[in-house]
Amino acid sequence: MRIILLGPPGVGKGTQAQFLIKRLEAVQLSTGDLLRTAIRERTELGRSAKKYMDVGDLVPDSIVLGLVGEWLAEQGERCVIFDGFPRTIAQAEGLDRLLDQMGKKLDRVLELVVADKTVINRISARRSCPVCGAVYNLLSAPPKVENVCDNCGREGLELRKDDRPEVIANRLRVYHAQTEPLADYYRQRGLLTAIDGDQGVKAVEAEIKDVLDA
Ligand code: AP5
Repeated sequence: MRIILLGPPGVGKGTQAQFLIKRLEAVQLSTGDLLRTAIRERTELGRSAKKYMDVGDLVPDSIVLGLVGEWLAEQGERCVIFDGFPRTIAQAEGLDRLLDQMGKKLDRVLELVVADKTVINRISARRSCPVCGAVYNLLSAPPKVENVCDNCGREGLELRKDDRPEVIANRLRVYHAQTEPLADYYRQRGLLTAIDGDQGVKAVEAEIKDVLDA
């Protein structure tokens, strides 16, 4: 099975991907995580990507498609949850080509729909562990001990560099201009289901489960 989670920054794609990974024994493709790893490891790719990510712009399609092509080729028959990819029509067409070459197809695109002001609140309260990558929310999902990662015990949870207010505003602009048109692209192919992302984590999870079970 291959499922795309489509939606604006901070809507909860990564959060829902974690549930789907467990339920479907799937692997997650988060292009954001792959790019952040490249930046941490100071690879050439990371150096190219950083200047775009720091200001909330999209990394060029050619870089992202190269990364995804390599990653997909290593996954074999496993179920894949696409989180934050594709983000442009060119990426969606590139994914179609990659899947065609592999004799595979997309099963469903879940569009998490939410108001901009909700995502601004969620992103502003998000904190991540710089060691293991666990994600928290100071309002809806705080760590058990303040500022300490439940998962690995690291003290000092961080605000992502691109989660500052001025960068969030640009990420939302970029989303509406370049990524939102993908909803029509997949609706025309009969693959799109809209999910109300403006509800609690468990309610979103339950709505997704109902769609996939139907
Ligand atoms: P990326 O890392 O993909 O960021 P994003 O798409 O902006 O999404 P986020 O990771 O910010 O949010 P999310 O939807 O996963 O929400 P989360 O579950 O964490 O991309 C970063 C950058 O990399 C881009 O700006 C771009 O530069 C580059 N990039 C990446 N992919 C690219 C591509 N394909 N092409 C070009 N460039 C690319 O949840 C957010 C917070 O809310 C958390 O604290 C969580 O606990 C909380 N939360 C989640 N759900 C709920 C809920 N239902 N109720 C209350 N709180 C909730």
